[in-house]
Amino acid sequence: MIDNRFIEKFKALETPFYFYDFDLLRRTLDEVKQESSKYGYIVHYAVKANANDALLKVIRDAGMGADCVSGNEVAKAIEIGIPREKVAFAGVGKSDKEIRTALENDIFSFNCESIPEIEVIDELAGEAGKVAPVAIRINPDVDPQTHEYITTGLKDNKFGINHWDFDEVGRRLRSLKNIRLTGIHFHIGSQITDISVFEQLSLKVNKIQEWFVENGFHLEHINVGGGLGINYEKPEEEPIPDFKSYFKAFHDNLELQPGQQLHFELGRSLVAQCGHLISRVLYVKKGLETQFMILDAGMTELIRPALYKANHKATNLSSNGELVKYDVVGPICESSDTFSRGTLMPVAKRGDLVALHSAGAYGESMASTYNMRDMVRSYNSDELLK
Ligand code: LLP
Repeated sequence: MIDNRFIEKFKALETPFYFYDFDLLRRTLDEVKQESSKYGYIVHYAVKANANDALLKVIRDAGMGADCVSGNEVAKAIEIGIPREKVAFAGVGKSDKEIRTALENDIFSFNCESIPEIEVIDELAGEAGKVAPVAIRINPDVDPQTHEYITTGLKDNKFGINHWDFDEVGRRLRSLKNIRLTGIHFHIGSQITDISVFEQLSLKVNKIQEWFVENGFHLEHINVGGGLGINYEKPEEEPIPDFKSYFKAFHDNLELQPGQQLHFELGRSLVAQCGHLISRVLYVKKGLETQFMILDAGMTELIRPALYKANHKATNLSSNGELVKYDVVGPICESSDTFSRGTLMPVAKRGDLVALHSAGAYGESMASTYNMRDMVRSYNSDELLK
């Protein structure tokens, strides 16, 4: 999965670090563009998945827009050179400062999640002498069949506006003068591997759109968020997710009005498979019934296993000896700092390089310095081959 040319380079580098394969990233972006442009769909990259500067530049060069969830992400997207008219700003708790940043930058859309937020955006836009383009994030109550911590579109989730509030929202939209309704927005969850979930979402969107049409609102765009999952178990078999079936599910089920644009906000599916967390074995230690492989990378670099019991496939890049069962753990003072248990891997020794795969999304962007560790570094294939 990782070319030998890179493994040779890793030997001289201090671990742990993220390694991004930009060749795979570019091929993934090409595939997305090819499949989405068949239907004229517009794709924004969900910056939260990975805000690494070099990676963002590759995404900018592919012509993607940006989906941001903080004022700093909005500022970063614009600094990198993503056109402001392709920047959307979502999130349940936008602060006044963040709203002002976005207003100053004349972004494409504020994806609004509550009536009080709409009122604040109206007020701040008035102060700035602007009319803010607003899309209403709607909670469609569709079960994405994924981990409860990354489910966002059920009626008891904190995200979006529920259908019983539509009349009230309609009244505000008609009366407030400094906002302009441009669209509706949805995002039901992440790591969704069952395509029929997107078919259900499309059918729900059709129903919801009817309400807006009946109430005299014209929607320029519909944004269906992100959520397409990736193959964590066998990344080598599926380095590029099935974008073809994904976009087709919307094309076959979601009814657009004439001239209406369909937008997407993909994070994980664009960047997960191009990223690997590279670490070294510090110690191999005998436990009661198991052997611990203690890495120099831990939950500070990759928190997903501790937080969601996520599985990231591990490969020993330095050994192909006989297979032994290991509990693969990090150095942090928490029992949850465990990458996997009872994993069959080639016999390991101190100093072996170990890669944790499918780590390009929500890896580096969720890293911390807990235990006063250094913030994780990163390298990409372009710079290592220079
Ligand atoms: N749009 C909105 C409004 C979102 O909240 C998200 C992700 C996305 C788009 C991008 O979703 P994606 O295509 O990446 O599924 N930290 C978790 C994932 C949290 C996702 C949050 N929202 C993880 O490591 O699995």
